[in-house]
Amino acid sequence: MTIRQETKRDHREVFNVIEKAFKEAEFTDHTEHFLVERLRKSDAFIPGLSLVAEDKGRIVGHILLTKIKIKNRSTEFDSLALAPVSVLPEFQGKGIGGKLILESHKRAKELGHKSIVLLGHENYYPRFGYKQADMYGIELPFEVPKENCMVIELVENGLKGVHGMVEYPKEFYE
Ligand SMILES: CC(C)(COP(=O)(O)OP(=O)(O)OC[C@H]1O[C@@H](n2cnc3c(N)ncnc32)[C@H](O)[C@@H]1OP(=O)(O)O)[C@@H](O)C(=O)NCCC(=O)NCCS
Repeated sequence: MTIRQETKRDHREVFNVIEKAFKEAEFTDHTEHFLVERLRKSDAFIPGLSLVAEDKGRIVGHILLTKIKIKNRSTEFDSLALAPVSVLPEFQGKGIGGKLILESHKRAKELGHKSIVLLGHENYYPRFGYKQADMYGIELPFEVPKENCMVIELVENGLKGVHGMVEYPKEFYE
């Protein structure tokens, strides 16, 4: 299993992987494959942070990190959103999601990014270092339990002095 940057030729296969991954998932409207299509065309897209997991020439997983802002009355900060991460149902539970997450952290850090925000399951992401966003005074613009709003610092003090409301690209709401 290798993890590599997604290329244009992967788009259709990635679309199918995301659709299948979320088909039976809870807490979703099952439209994540369309979200990724929109985000690729947006200013928030970073080609180097759209990654695929490939097994014997077949794409079995995908992860996307896109640019977001964290804003308060006086300042705005750059950060990233992790959304979505997808693994084909028959490949789930084998560590592929974890590998995608960790590789995305490494590459984001290499590109100079300091933090990542996500909305996700409170039992899954803390093992990769995610903490509740409200501990940093960071809010996500969704009506969801605070346990599901998480952040990670990719570098020491990556969120020092950063607080406010996360502003997602408009493509998240279309
Ligand atoms: C979430 C997902 C990406 C994880 O990938 P994966 O390769 O199955 O995960 P890993 O093998 O690295 O980790 C497995 C662990 O994740 C847990 N897990 C998997 N999906 C989960 C979910 N939706 N909610 C909570 N925990 C989940 C498993 O229970 C397992 O936990 P354990 O190690 O304590 O037994 C994958 O299951 C998936 O595509 N799910 C459907 C889409 C989705 O919900 N994406 C996340 C929201 S953006």
